[in-house]
Amino acid sequence: MAKASRTPAKQAETTDGFHDLAAVVTGAGSGMGRSTAVALARRGLSVAVLDRNNEAAKGTASLITEGGGKGRAYKVDVSRSREVDRAFARISKDLGPVGYLVNIAGIDELCPLEKITDEAWSRMFSIAVNGCFYCCRAALPGMMERGFGSIVNMSSLHAVRGQAGRTHYAASKAAIMGLTKSLAREKAVYGIRVNGVAPGPIDTPLWRSGRGGGTLTKDIAERVKIIPLGRLGTAEEIAEIFVFLLSDRASYITGQIVTADGGEVMP
Ligand SMILES: NC(=O)c1ccc[n+]([C@@H]2O[C@H](COP(=O)([O-])OP(=O)(O)OC[C@H]3O[C@@H](n4cnc5c(N)ncnc54)[C@H](O)[C@@H]3O)[C@@H](O)[C@H]2O)c1
Repeated sequence: MAKASRTPAKQAETTDGFHDLAAVVTGAGSGMGRSTAVALARRGLSVAVLDRNNEAAKGTASLITEGGGKGRAYKVDVSRSREVDRAFARISKDLGPVGYLVNIAGIDELCPLEKITDEAWSRMFSIAVNGCFYCCRAALPGMMERGFGSIVNMSSLHAVRGQAGRTHYAASKAAIMGLTKSLAREKAVYGIRVNGVAPGPIDTPLWRSGRGGGTLTKDIAERVKIIPLGRLGTAEEIAEIFVFLLSDRASYITGQIVTADGGEVMP
């Protein structure tokens, strides 16, 4: 393992504050994961597109290659540690050393606490929290060896403000905040930054599926009433935050959770 240093190791630079190292994005088959993978590829990074939905992952990889970028799909369920470890070993061979990790894979479920089963609680945590842990654990040795790395994890506004009907979801996203801040303190000495993003409602397949089909327009109208900017966010807007935090443009930022919620919560 490289000697710990607070000065990031010199790496060949690409554009926009990125080095010539591969990026791994989980949950990259849809929504914000897809937008982030595409946005990183546009900055010249080779992107490993991870999703448990193979077709969706391939769809994102195709979008990247059609745009002239380098993207490769990997079918991975992030809640399974062996699948994650195997994927990271393959990614290093296919795309080279991993310098960037974006943990976005997640699910949503609306359920009052007294009706949440043991299985549903475990499923929520095993994807959001264990998945994030497994991917960080797989990526870190190489990052520590090189004395450089940047990780950004997906949290949620629900972890900040709480959300009735989504206690398991909010608790898992709050756990990700703790993981993010602790890992940032632990690995700063290796030149590795770790940050998080906590979006409010973002118009993605996941957000829409969590609302009542026929009344979607009404649901959106109700939801945006408490948002000063008066609308849902877009996946592309959130992708730009991930890109910024990952890049050297955010070189003095670590252990932070950036909220992007149209002004809904102003601490
Ligand atoms: N949409 C929102 O309003 C919102 C707000 C805050 C946070 N989030 C979080 O952002 C993340 C992405 O949300 P989105 O709205 O873009 O959702 P999305 O459903 O469009 O995309 C999520 C992707 O994650 C993948 N995935 C789910 N479980 C997986 C697993 N075990 N292994 C690998 N891939 C898996 C899905 O197949 C899907 O492609 C989630 O973690 C979600 O909790 C969403």
